[in-house]
Amino acid sequence: MDASTLLAAQRIVPVVVIEDAATAVPTAQALLAGGLSAIEVTLRSAAAIAAIRAIAQDVPDMLVGAGSVRGAQALTQVRDAGARFAVSPGHSAALLEAAAAQSFPLVPGSATPSEAMTLMDAGYTLQKLFPAEIVGGTAWLRAIAGPLPALRFFPTGGIRLPQVADYLAQPNVACIGGTWLTPSDSTPAEITQRAKDALAQVPNRN
Ligand code: 3PG
Repeated sequence: MDASTLLAAQRIVPVVVIEDAATAVPTAQALLAGGLSAIEVTLRSAAAIAAIRAIAQDVPDMLVGAGSVRGAQALTQVRDAGARFAVSPGHSAALLEAAAAQSFPLVPGSATPSEAMTLMDAGYTLQKLFPAEIVGGTAWLRAIAGPLPALRFFPTGGIRLPQVADYLAQPNVACIGGTWLTPSDSTPAEITQRAKDALAQVPNRN
């Protein structure tokens, strides 16, 4: 299954940086309780692989993926830990080759029309837009919808609660992500509330 199909039901995917693997399962459960059923655990912390493994084993209703996946070795590592999809801030030939060789669901990143076209040629119709707010946010998404109408995006980078509705109202936005849902000092109850607040902003799809 490709990432586009796997993530089709998701509109908000929390990006989480887990510093202590013991917090992985409570964080995933708190997000699920708030109505969010996919999570992107970034490889930006030493505990990330253990966190992915714990969520995959103990929170089966959570669709667990890995973020900041930059190369073939990381892709294999996250797959072996139980991640079901991988997200990358960009793309390299080695990463795309590894994902194709393993038939592993990958959301590679683009931030220019040329990058988006390179990924489209490689078969990726769902692409991460990163860093979304810096490269133009919803204005970028509206602009690219004309020349590249087949593409759908997963913007992350700088998105916070007040921007959720505007991003998700763009027809070429499949889902959005960000770390605002799980600040490092938050309790599970706070995470659940943040998830609910975010879902309340999701516009109905026509
Ligand atoms: C990512 O890895 O997708 C981004 O770091 C998320 O950006 P944010 O921290 O601004 O939400």
